[in-house]
Amino acid sequence: MTKTDENLKAAFAGESQANRMYLAFAKKAEEEGFPQIALLFKAAAQSETVHALNHLTVMGQVKSTADNLGTAVSGETYEFKKMYPDFIADAKKDGNKPAEMSFDFANKVEQIHAALYQKALDALKAKKQPAKVDYYVCPVCGNTFEGSAPDICPICSTLKEKFMKIE
Ligand SMILES: [Fe+2]
Ligand SMILES: [Fe+2]
Repeated sequence: MTKTDENLKAAFAGESQANRMYLAFAKKAEEEGFPQIALLFKAAAQSETVHALNHLTVMGQVKSTADNLGTAVSGETYEFKKMYPDFIADAKKDGNKPAEMSFDFANKVEQIHAALYQKALDALKAKKQPAKVDYYVCPVCGNTFEGSAPDICPICSTLKEKFMKIE
């Protein structure tokens, strides 16, 4: 790996994190009654996404959809089999309840993501378009549903009407 390869990786991570952080800051600015500052955070967040995607493309990490689904399945599987279980154990040891809960939400949902990606990959391998369905995401734990949202989130008990429909 060249120095530039390492730098691309670091820059992709940094820009990706800045994108999510600025969206969180935009939400906070809205709550505090600063719509113009919220808009500035959203604009910069969008710009950081452009940078992140440029870096990722230069890294050659955006491949065919079949390859990308494979990458997604592996990443999610690693997270729920190894990364989050370890993180949850550490959070317990550290007595950090909020972190334990945050890791636990992610851990449970990554299993669902892995299964959804695997299903799409299987359809693609069978030369079929995946069935046309809507997706719904829980705003509290990230739980992800196909077809319709549940009456109550089985992971965090959030009610159906709060779920976000993905457009
Ligand atoms: Fe995931
Ligand atoms: Fe949830």
